[in-house]
Amino acid sequence: MSTLNFAIIGTGGITLQNHLPGLALCPDVRVHALCDANPATLEAARVQTGAPVVSTRWEDIVTRDDIHAVIIATPNFLHPAIAIAAARSGKHVLCEKPIALNVADARNMAAEADRAGVRHMTAFTYQFVPAMRYLRHLVARGDLGIPYHYRSCRLQDWGTRNLGWRQQKRLAGTGELGDMLSHRIDFALHLVGPMRRLVANVKNLTPDRGGAPNDTDDWVAVIAEFVSGASGVLESSKLASGRNESWRSLDYVEINGSEATFEFTTGKCRELQHGRLGGPGLQPLAVPPEFWVWPGSPRDPGVGDPLVTFRYDQAVEFVNAIREQRPCALTFHDGARAQEVMDGAVRSAETRQWIDLVG
Ligand SMILES: NC(=O)c1ccc[n+]([C@@H]2O[C@H](COP(=O)([O-])OP(=O)(O)OC[C@H]3O[C@@H](n4cnc5c(N)ncnc54)[C@H](O)[C@@H]3O)[C@@H](O)[C@H]2O)c1
Repeated sequence: MSTLNFAIIGTGGITLQNHLPGLALCPDVRVHALCDANPATLEAARVQTGAPVVSTRWEDIVTRDDIHAVIIATPNFLHPAIAIAAARSGKHVLCEKPIALNVADARNMAAEADRAGVRHMTAFTYQFVPAMRYLRHLVARGDLGIPYHYRSCRLQDWGTRNLGWRQQKRLAGTGELGDMLSHRIDFALHLVGPMRRLVANVKNLTPDRGGAPNDTDDWVAVIAEFVSGASGVLESSKLASGRNESWRSLDYVEINGSEATFEFTTGKCRELQHGRLGGPGLQPLAVPPEFWVWPGSPRDPGVGDPLVTFRYDQAVEFVNAIREQRPCALTFHDGARAQEVMDGAVRSAETRQWIDLVG
């Protein structure tokens, strides 16, 4: 298999922003087929890519013999059915997060993809941020000591505009929880290990968004206890007025351990803040150049906005895992582990109780 033929299902925002530029970095990769339920969106992507095969029905695309790999970038509720059909047809699958609306479906996707022997990947894009990868490296090396507290805060200003499918529980599953906090849950699980239990709350302060009903959360907070004994506090909001909507808004992760503290904020994707036990306070810590691109990525870190271009390494990792016949850095199992925490957060908010997790 020299040239890999890709199909992309859902050619909206994230496909144009991340997946197409990511695939463009990969040698011998062709965007061969496109699918979108909206004919105008599909046509715009066809013109942009020159893909020879298009359809508004994903069922017609994922089983084709001339497709080797599929990227799923549709509204969340469609992910499991498309992923399972693609895997059963022997296609490698990169699926957007959250991969499902509940943990049972997420685990089923992982089991089906394993059974089919295909490569599978969850698009937890922020794992590709250079500073976050360096942070994982430092924690794994022991520089933190025993982890005490994981803290993350994502504050965006989405106002009260209409969010389309994102504000319908039946299509999205959850709001801010799946949209933004899922990334930070995934990062916490990689940095500190599995969670033992959690308590959470969600808020919907905008039951009307842009003239249409919204039944999803626009704020979520989780207090977690990790199996290691460390504690976690994770908060995310779409209603932090004035903080900007894009990646310029606050995205903050801090971890405190017995030896040190490390802190990461967006806007500084090649720098951490670091303080030692008993030291004078946090100081900048530059991310070494070997962390500026993902291993195996041909991307020139000097090209483009570094706050944007790290995202392209995600497609590179997927393609390299296919070629090297090894598991992707983030599989559907990672998607399922994060989903278990999300389901727990929903249940905790509904029942007003702590929820035990399997991990
Ligand atoms: N990894 C990240 O950082 C990140 C960022 C943004 C979005 N996402 C995820 O990507 C996915 C898509 O988000 P988006 O922002 O691109 O949304 P979007 O609304 O811009 O695009 C989704 C597209 O799917 C199409 N679609 C709807 N039903 C379809 C169907 N039955 N068959 C084929 N296409 C269909 C829509 O017409 C639309 O063009 C979501 O799961 C979202 O959570 C991930």
